[in-house]
Amino acid sequence: MPIEKKFVDQFINVSSKAALSSSYLVGKKDKIAADKAAVDSMRSELNKMNIQGRIVIGEGELDDAPMLYIGERLGNKNGPELDIAVDPLEGTNFAANNLPGALSVIAVSEKNNLFNAPETYMDKISTRVKEKNVVDLDFSIKKNISNLSDYLNKKPENLTACLLDRPRHKKIINELTELGVKLKLITDGDVSGALMVTDDKFNVDIFLGIGGGPEGVLAAAALDAYDCSFQGRFLFETNDDITRAKKMGIKDLSKKYEIHEIISGDSIFCATGITSGDLVSGIKIENNVFVSETLVTHKSTGLKKVIKLKQNI
Ligand code: FBP
Repeated sequence: MPIEKKFVDQFINVSSKAALSSSYLVGKKDKIAADKAAVDSMRSELNKMNIQGRIVIGEGELDDAPMLYIGERLGNKNGPELDIAVDPLEGTNFAANNLPGALSVIAVSEKNNLFNAPETYMDKISTRVKEKNVVDLDFSIKKNISNLSDYLNKKPENLTACLLDRPRHKKIINELTELGVKLKLITDGDVSGALMVTDDKFNVDIFLGIGGGPEGVLAAAALDAYDCSFQGRFLFETNDDITRAKKMGIKDLSKKYEIHEIISGDSIFCATGITSGDLVSGIKIENNVFVSETLVTHKSTGLKKVIKLKQNI
């Protein structure tokens, strides 16, 4: 059953209040405090809603996270059963250092339709191209770029690839450079990075590389509403990672997940700016009023837009 439209405004309220709470700690060099402010606010606002929510992606397992832990039930127990993925502060470095791009993010699906992702890295790829076998996680960089170039009828030197600037991406970066592709290297924030493929205005043709698995699932929720492609494969570094993944029901550790295996049915995605970035502007406070910008998608109604709100504090 689709998620009722009235919940869109309520989830915008959840992410914008979390962004406001975190905004007071922007530039204070304290990632933990900025994160905690967003977490506390998100949890308290979710608990006011008429939903039966269950956290599938949150701050970790109960042992590590007292708030918004995986499996936590939220809401006042009336209303629809929803799976909830949160990243109350995406880009902790951005917030702590007052840099562009810190976001407060929440994605919601109908019950059992959002992938319960382990807290590990994920190899990801996304583009605007929906057709199969154009861009694929299993293809070489050269094949992906050549296929994308043919498909979009753009020379490789006119294509732009977005990825995290990390030593682990040295080989990919070298290959893309040799192919003449333009790079958009981001220092953090790969939810936003993945969403750069959704609109020509961002001038990004492909997003790829290794980042957080939970961030991959969050981005996939919005990319699904934009009808973009996304594939992800979890990467497990330690035995603990593997044990945890198996406990979460993952049998094939090297499986490549297609977007419909990560998110299905109806969904709502909200990303509110804490500091201004590519997607949205950050929180502005004027006297007793705060202004927020939230990128919102609601799959069943086709809503995909940035909503600017003025609210009393
Ligand atoms: P935090 O907000 O938890 O600091 O995450 C920021 C981030 O850049 C994510 O967007 C990304 O998925 C992940 O960190 C990449 O991890 P790493 O910094 O270890 O490469």
